[in-house]
Amino acid sequence: MAEIKISTAEKRNYKLRTANEAKKLAKSFLVENDVWREELRCGLPEINDRYHYWKVPIVLDDHDIGELIFDAYTQAVDLRRSSDVQMIRGRISRVLAGGTARQKRKKKAKGFTVSPLSNVIIKGRSEIVLKTLPEQSIDLVFTSPPYFNARKQYSEYESYDDYLFAMRRVIRECRRVLIDGKFFVINASHVLVPRTDRNESSSRIAVPFDLHQILIEEGFEFVDDIIWQKPEGAGWASGRGRRFSADRNPMQYKAVPVTEYVLVYRKKPCILIDHFIRDNPDQEIIQQSKIPDGYEKTNVWYISPAHDKRHPAIFPPELAEKVIRYYSFVNDVVLDPFGGIGTTAKAAAKLNRRFCSIEVSDEYIEAARSDLAKLGNNLVAPFDFAYRDLHEMKDDEANISLNALLHKLLREGYTQEELYEILVNGLHEK
Ligand SMILES: C[S@@+](CC[C@H](N)C(=O)[O-])C[C@H]1O[C@@H](n2cnc3c(N)ncnc32)[C@H](O)[C@@H]1O
Repeated sequence: MAEIKISTAEKRNYKLRTANEAKKLAKSFLVENDVWREELRCGLPEINDRYHYWKVPIVLDDHDIGELIFDAYTQAVDLRRSSDVQMIRGRISRVLAGGTARQKRKKKAKGFTVSPLSNVIIKGRSEIVLKTLPEQSIDLVFTSPPYFNARKQYSEYESYDDYLFAMRRVIRECRRVLIDGKFFVINASHVLVPRTDRNESSSRIAVPFDLHQILIEEGFEFVDDIIWQKPEGAGWASGRGRRFSADRNPMQYKAVPVTEYVLVYRKKPCILIDHFIRDNPDQEIIQQSKIPDGYEKTNVWYISPAHDKRHPAIFPPELAEKVIRYYSFVNDVVLDPFGGIGTTAKAAAKLNRRFCSIEVSDEYIEAARSDLAKLGNNLVAPFDFAYRDLHEMKDDEANISLNALLHKLLREGYTQEELYEILVNGLHEK
């Protein structure tokens, strides 16, 4: 005889057993308190079996505006743990005053953005040449920033702050050219600062964490931290962990790095992903872009590093292909502001996306152009790309000094609000 499964709710004899019942209770509570309105929705209720309560999210369009907690044994609302009714009321008015997300989506859907850009490789500094791209013309950014070398003699940056400021400028421009709600994916890893003599120890700079802070300040929403895991032997060359391996003293332990981050963000406002699927006027594209079986299911991706004698720091084509498949549609435009020898551009072309690759070095540009030309001969669809040399384009002095000042102040601990004050009223002693 088939075994009959008894749910925890039944075993414990809860009075409130199902998600539907929890939703109904939430709605009646809101009706009784004169808060309910047609636009409101109860999200998916969750049961907490440890503390035996149901949590019902209250949703207005895309906004979470509070939650109600009900005791699973008694069905009573737990006012202490639930969101305050006055607060829910206030949030409803605020959301409605700003126009509902549905109304905003409708507006947006009418103008579904299809980028006019064609394939291009641009020579020049990203922070400057990105200014030549139209606003909202890119569907996905995937990049790996230049390495920060802590040793001044090898670094093109005066200081780490200087490096972060350069990254901030590129990130800001990327946000401008990215279509609202689309993805920005960045591959980065911590930098090892080797010791300079025997009495010093090596240290590390957590570059990805600082980039994260900048991305948030610049108007991106954090989505995922994917770990690119390399095979075991890959990090040994860094020298980290060797001393410990020989001496085995506690506190000398250092983990050998075999991972890098692939950090995933979206440009705010994060309009519903559904808009990009449902409102695309070419539904064929949606079908062609479906991701086949065998996709990565967790945030740990095992990929071997790639090497190319023409560039010291490329990322593997497999990594670029996964990111492009998961975060863009066929025919989308993929931008790599630090294009190198064009790994992102080649992966984009292979997957029937368009590309825009920006790079300062002539040598790397040449490698990318030659690979793309060869690739073009093997692609089914007709394939063409332009090359623009914008190397002579000059930086905008006023812009640099204002940005530099803002950057310095942000790092000194001023908040966005204080910076706004400073912009309006000038700088006074803090
Ligand atoms: C980590 S590499 C990227 C390699 C690339 N992912 C590939 O697979 O070929 C960073 C690249 O950024 C380039 N670069 C550095 N500063 C730049 C800037 N301001 N604008 C454009 N490219 C820059 C460097 O020359 C280098 O090729």
